Amino acid sequence: MNTAIPSKTIPVARPSFGVDEENAVIAVLRSGWVSQGPRAAEFERNFAEYVGASYAVAVSSCTTALHLALLAAGVKPGDEVLCPSLSFIATANVIVHAGAIPVFVDIDESTYNIDPSCIERAITPRTKAILAVHQIGLPAAIDEINDIASRHGLLVIEDAACAIGSRYMGQRIGLPHTSMACFSFHPRKVLTTGEGGMITTCDKELAARIRGLRQHAMTISDLTRHGSSKVVIESYDEVGYNYRMTDLQAAIGLVQLGRIEEMIDRRRELALRYSSRLSSLPWLVLPAEPAESRHNFQSYMVRLLSDAPIGRDELMQELLDRGISSRRGIMAIHREAPYRNEKWDVGLPVTNLVTDTAVILPLFYEMTEDEQDYVIECFEEIAHLAVK
Ligand SMILES: Cc1ncc(COP(=O)(O)O)c(C=O)c1O
Repeated sequence: MNTAIPSKTIPVARPSFGVDEENAVIAVLRSGWVSQGPRAAEFERNFAEYVGASYAVAVSSCTTALHLALLAAGVKPGDEVLCPSLSFIATANVIVHAGAIPVFVDIDESTYNIDPSCIERAITPRTKAILAVHQIGLPAAIDEINDIASRHGLLVIEDAACAIGSRYMGQRIGLPHTSMACFSFHPRKVLTTGEGGMITTCDKELAARIRGLRQHAMTISDLTRHGSSKVVIESYDEVGYNYRMTDLQAAIGLVQLGRIEEMIDRRRELALRYSSRLSSLPWLVLPAEPAESRHNFQSYMVRLLSDAPIGRDELMQELLDRGISSRRGIMAIHREAPYRNEKWDVGLPVTNLVTDTAVILPLFYEMTEDEQDYVIECFEEIAHLAVK
């Protein structure tokens, strides 16, 4: 067993950039057009084609994508929006940004996504939409969610922050499974542009509204004005935002999009390696992949059962002492100050269980098998010492 502590800590995630990304950025710098422009438009076209949607709108982050999606869907102050608490806090923050109220719904114990059987009892006359998260890249049960939504006249928006390239019923997330899907290009995601986001939809009017809102509701974009041989004067018909993606980001995104399938395949290989080696530990719950879903393994998250020989936080410390970064699994939003409320303490038992017992292990495209072997061996060693 190779127990030598590596000279550098193995990170939980690391973006993969090569010469092509570097050259793409240099080309944008030399072009003189560094804000949202031709590269962003090209990234949108390629992204829409990749996921199979009619339209894609590039924005500055998934948070801003979700905010615009809610606004474009007509979510208004006082409306309730159902979402899981087991998610990054942005999922609930954007509902508050739109003036609406997040209503947390418990999750399924094996997929960590919103549990369709808990949705109906959370619906009230004020419910407007369901924000379904594809947590760490595993698609939520969209068909069941859509069924419930259509019975109650609700909209479904996908928080697909983590789910680029993931598939549901054989089709990529971002297709018109719902009205809109929102993606993140943060460095912990499979495709990164530093920061960045994208909204996909097949609804022409929604796409046009979002396109406007992301740049102060300007009626004619600067790119269109720049390319026009006639003088055009734009107007601003409502209060919008500056949620633009820069061409520097889009240029990186274009290169990363060309590599996306290869990057996902490698992640899946590494995830499979983890699962086959860690399956010997009976107190460990490995990631599930239901038959209708294909995971992109944005993260590899395991969960400790109550008979585990070691606590989650202690395990993370032991890993760190051996030069391995890990992260607690997904946070529970209802435990954070802005969202604390007694009513959530009893209503979210699975969320509470999962957030307290899950841990995310290192997994990234450039991770070597030696690095992964080291993580697995340390994990086994820590477990073995804890049993003694
Ligand atoms: C589920 C989920 N939603 C939303 C976001 C926000 O994405 P961004 O950082 O691009 O704003 C994240 C980011 O981690 C996320 O995991």
